[in-house]
Amino acid sequence: SKGQGGLDTVVLRHVSGASAEIYLFGATLCSYKTSDGAERIFVSPGAIYDGKKAIRGGVPLVFPQFGQPDKAMAQHGVARTAMWTLKSVSDGVDASCATFSLSDNDDTRKVWDHAFALEFTVVLSAVSLKMCLRVTNTGSAPFNFQALLHTYFKIPDIGECAVRGLAGRSYSDKVDNTTKTEGAPHIELPSFTDRVYLGAEPGAKDVLVGSKAGTCSVVAVNEASVVGQAVPCDVVVWNPYEEKSPGDLPPPAFKEFVCVEPGMVGKFYELAPGSSAELSQKIIPS
Ligand code: BG6
Repeated sequence: SKGQGGLDTVVLRHVSGASAEIYLFGATLCSYKTSDGAERIFVSPGAIYDGKKAIRGGVPLVFPQFGQPDKAMAQHGVARTAMWTLKSVSDGVDASCATFSLSDNDDTRKVWDHAFALEFTVVLSAVSLKMCLRVTNTGSAPFNFQALLHTYFKIPDIGECAVRGLAGRSYSDKVDNTTKTEGAPHIELPSFTDRVYLGAEPGAKDVLVGSKAGTCSVVAVNEASVVGQAVPCDVVVWNPYEEKSPGDLPPPAFKEFVCVEPGMVGKFYELAPGSSAELSQKIIPS
């Protein structure tokens, strides 16, 4: 199919009526509709689809760096602005599935001189959408990387939003450059919020997106592993409000999303030649 700006997309449909759309540009998932037709993923009305700039919204894939620790490389790395290849699609009664791939090439080598293969798999079922990013070191030397699924969840109103499941975790607050421990049972976002919650222990962890009033609209099951061994999964919570809204996110669009992003970002992970790491988020709307 064709998406915005004439860019190629892959549309997944499940017999239940659920659907998902993924751009080959960045392998950016830009829509997930449940069987009732409700859109669960936010994309900015000001998003630019020129095949150069990362799409503002959806689920940009962050690799091999989070933010810009290496100034020679773009913020959030090379994957979200690369053209990916569709590797396979399958339709089943249980689930519809698509896998996308990206390997190192002249563009990535210029800024990050390592051999890698990425695979991004989307599995759409009647009740959930699972995304998994697999990183493989295809070279002959180890490399260090970070990775993250930068999910923009569509919500009715950021002022009423609450995120549950991160209590007790330590986090780095990028708003005031401090490290804190989350004392509240749920997080509210009354103003510009940019936090990296460190994973506490290995294994799948649920983070709930809902309202201050106590409702839950989505459960996100986040998980990370290196060489098949579970590692703690970090979670970034972000909303820029008007104050930090970038040009392709004209206010008041910030009100309609919250980013809750599973990541391997609290440190760099070393990957040996031939080894793989995986990062996943399963979205279960309620
Ligand atoms: C978040 C970061 O994950 O992504 C923020 O924590 C950053 O610091 C945000 O501003 C958006 O990044 P970008 O490059 O898509 O504007």
